[in-house]
Amino acid sequence: MNEKIILAIESSCDETAVAVTCGRRVLSSVIASQVEEHKLYGGVVPEIASRRHAEAIYSLTEQALSEANITRKDIDAVAVTAAPGLIGALLVGVNFAKGLAMSLGVPLIPVHHLRGHIAANYISAPNLKPPFLCLLVSGGNSVVALVRDYTDFEILARTRDDAAGECFDKAARAMGLSYPGGVTLDKIATTPDFKKYPLPFPRVEDSEYDFSFSGLKTAVINTIHNAEQKGEEIDIPVMAATLRSRVCDMLVNSTFALAKEKGIKTVVVAGGVSANSELRKRMKETAENQGVDLYYPELCFCGDNAAMIGVQASFETTVADMTLNAKATMGIHEEF
Ligand code: KG4
Repeated sequence: MNEKIILAIESSCDETAVAVTCGRRVLSSVIASQVEEHKLYGGVVPEIASRRHAEAIYSLTEQALSEANITRKDIDAVAVTAAPGLIGALLVGVNFAKGLAMSLGVPLIPVHHLRGHIAANYISAPNLKPPFLCLLVSGGNSVVALVRDYTDFEILARTRDDAAGECFDKAARAMGLSYPGGVTLDKIATTPDFKKYPLPFPRVEDSEYDFSFSGLKTAVINTIHNAEQKGEEIDIPVMAATLRSRVCDMLVNSTFALAKEKGIKTVVVAGGVSANSELRKRMKETAENQGVDLYYPELCFCGDNAAMIGVQASFETTVADMTLNAKATMGIHEEF
């Protein structure tokens, strides 16, 4: 494994993050979250995100270097999230990384954001090695990927509509919960009651393993609107728990059915939704029942951070030149 000192930058959404890594070791990891500002609008405002990245990125870099106890001349390579994400937000990180790599005369390593989320697991589990199956669930993506090697991926199941995080966020908004809804929903959820709130179990007709979350989100929104029209009160903590339970049913069932079908004995969870308490509990129970080894990232590396980008960069072989551009969309199996 490459043990170079990597300065990594992440700016794909609403967190500006900079880290210094060496192989799987995190020497520093700092994050400037914009959540409080986006909360005012109930979601991420892309232009505000880009402006805040531009303001924060220099001082965060200085802080990351200082906390790692190194100077710029110790940096062997610069890594940056170059796709996928909000294009204006990504461009701030990509251009800063290009300038830094050029001025230091070191390689520039572009990293796919979702590969980074998977690599968050390499930080907490130093012995974890591909091949394994990964349930990757975030605000913009929900897939089950076969990770054949550190840079070799095959998508085995995907959502046909909303991502799991998006379903949580939008349903939480209808419940009047504060942004980011998935986090709040997980905190206030109590016990599910499918008799009180009979949410559907959406299935995709032509695929046993693909997910569909938009029907579930709509069912929650409709239940709330109907109750409002009748002047009835919704028990929000129970509704939240019922939705959380149903989303977990879908994620856990597909992941472990695929693990069984493919004969894979190692399952990894990644992405912002991997912080969900019910998902962690259910994945653990099912893994124990099926004799599968289960890994998920430490809570501090579940959401967007730059440490995971630096760690993934240590496995990447692609080096970019100064024409590197950001991409709003890109498959996890594609190369820059
Ligand atoms: O991976 P991430 O930080 O950003 C993306 O790349 O999308 O994921 C953010 C998503 C949001 O939808 C947020 O609501 C969700 O992860 N999330 C959670 C929890 N923590 C974060 N969803 C459910 N339960 C949580 N505890």
